[in-house]
Amino acid sequence: MKVLVIGNGGREHALAWKLNESPSVDKIYVAKGNGGTSSFCENVDIDPSDIEGLVEFALKEEIDFTVVGPEDPLCGGIVDVFRDKGLKIFGPNKECAQFEKSKEFTKIFLEKYNIPTARYLSFTDYEKAVDSLDEFSYPLVVKADGLCLGKGVIISQNRDEAVEALNQIFNERVFGQEGDKVVIEEFLTGEEASLLCLVSNNKLYPLERAKDHKQIFDGDKGPNTGGVGTYSPVKATDKLVKSLREVCDKIEEGLDKEGLNYSGILFIGFMIEDDEPKVLEFNVRFGDPETEVLMPRLDCDLFLLLNKTVDGDLKAEDIKWKDDYCLTVIMCSGGYPGSYEKGKVITGLDDTDKDLIIFHNGTKLRDGDLLTNGGRVLSITAMGDDLQEAREKAYENAAKIHFDGAYYRKDIGTK
Ligand code: AMP
Ligand code: GLY
Repeated sequence: MKVLVIGNGGREHALAWKLNESPSVDKIYVAKGNGGTSSFCENVDIDPSDIEGLVEFALKEEIDFTVVGPEDPLCGGIVDVFRDKGLKIFGPNKECAQFEKSKEFTKIFLEKYNIPTARYLSFTDYEKAVDSLDEFSYPLVVKADGLCLGKGVIISQNRDEAVEALNQIFNERVFGQEGDKVVIEEFLTGEEASLLCLVSNNKLYPLERAKDHKQIFDGDKGPNTGGVGTYSPVKATDKLVKSLREVCDKIEEGLDKEGLNYSGILFIGFMIEDDEPKVLEFNVRFGDPETEVLMPRLDCDLFLLLNKTVDGDLKAEDIKWKDDYCLTVIMCSGGYPGSYEKGKVITGLDDTDKDLIIFHNGTKLRDGDLLTNGGRVLSITAMGDDLQEAREKAYENAAKIHFDGAYYRKDIGTK
C-alpha cells in the first residue's frame, strides 16, 4: 500500500513512523515532511493547505490511503475532495471540521446536547459585544471564532482589557475574517486535560490519555505554545473516567441527531475541577505533541486501525496499548513562541541512546546538515517502566543534542 501523510511536524513524523511498522505499508510519502521524515519516507514538496495539488499528486501516484495531520486542509474540505475522486482518506469531512473551524458551532452543539462547558455569548458586532460584558465576571475569555493558530483566545482580567480584546478583533481585525464572530465566555478554573478519540461511524473510541504542557517555562509559567512536552499514560479516578465517558456518549448522540457523519480523530480539550470535566474546545485532528507519546505506546497496527475507522467498523478491542510510560521533551528555538531564528545546525543526534525516539517538529536537511526550521524543533521521546525512568532517559539524551539557542523545559512529567 502507498500511504500519504499530510503535514510537516512532529505529529506527522510520529504517525508516519508508526505507519512504517505496518506490514501492509510499502511506501510513505509526506507532504511536505521534514528532516526527520525524509530518513524513511519520501518528502513531497506540496503545501498541506494546497488541496488541489495534493489530490492531483494522490491520483497520479495512485495513493491507497491518506492521513491528514493539521486542521487547515480538514477545515478546507480536503476529505470531501479526496472522496469525490474515489481516494480513501482519514479525517472528518468539511461539515464536521466546523467543530474546529468555528468556536460558535461547537458551543451551540455543546449547549444543545447538555455537555458541560463554560457559559457563553457570541457576537458579530463590536458595540453589542461591549454591552454584554457586564453579564460576566472577571477574568473572562474573549475568543475569535475562527482558526487563529492558537492565538485567538484572550483572557481578560478586567473590563478595559476585554474592551481592548474586542477592539483588536473587531476593529483592528488582527485575525482578519477569522474574527468576524467572537465568543465571550466565563473563565473556568481547574486542570487542563485532553482526550483524543478515534471516531468511527459517529462512535467515540478514546485513546489512552496524554498530558500536554502548554506554557513555555517551568512551573507552567510564561506564554502558551503549541505544547512543549507531554507524557502518557495519565491516571484518572473512576469518577473522572465515568464523567468523560458520559461526555463521549452525549457527543455521539449529538452527532447522530445532527445528521453529521464523523470519522477520524476528535480531540476534546477539557478543564477539570473536582473530577468534573467541562469542554473547552474540540479539535478535529491528532494533538501535537500528544501523538508523539501515543504512537510509541500503541501496541497494534496503526494502518489497520485508521482503515477500520474510515470503514466505520472499528471496535474498542482493536486499540491496544503497551504498559510502558512514554515522555517527550520538546527542544525549541530560543525565543519561541515569540520570534526566533531558523537555520541553526543541530549536532549530537548520533550520540543519543539507540532506543531513544526522536521525532522532528521543525527541521530540514541542507547539504548533509540538519538545520532548525521552526519554533518547536525536536521531540526527545523515551519509554520507561515508569514515568521517572522515561523522564530521566529523555533528559539525559536531550543534554547530548545541541544547536544555537536551544531551549527546553526541565520539569516535564514532574508534577
Ligand atoms: P481553546 O483554543 O479554546 O482551547 O483555548 C486555548 C487555551 O485558552 C486553552 O487551552 C485554555 O488554556 C485557555 N482557555 C480557553 N477557554 C477558557 C476558559 N473558558 N476558561 C479558562 N481558560 C480557557
Ligand atoms: N497539543 C495541543 C494541540 O495539538 O492542539
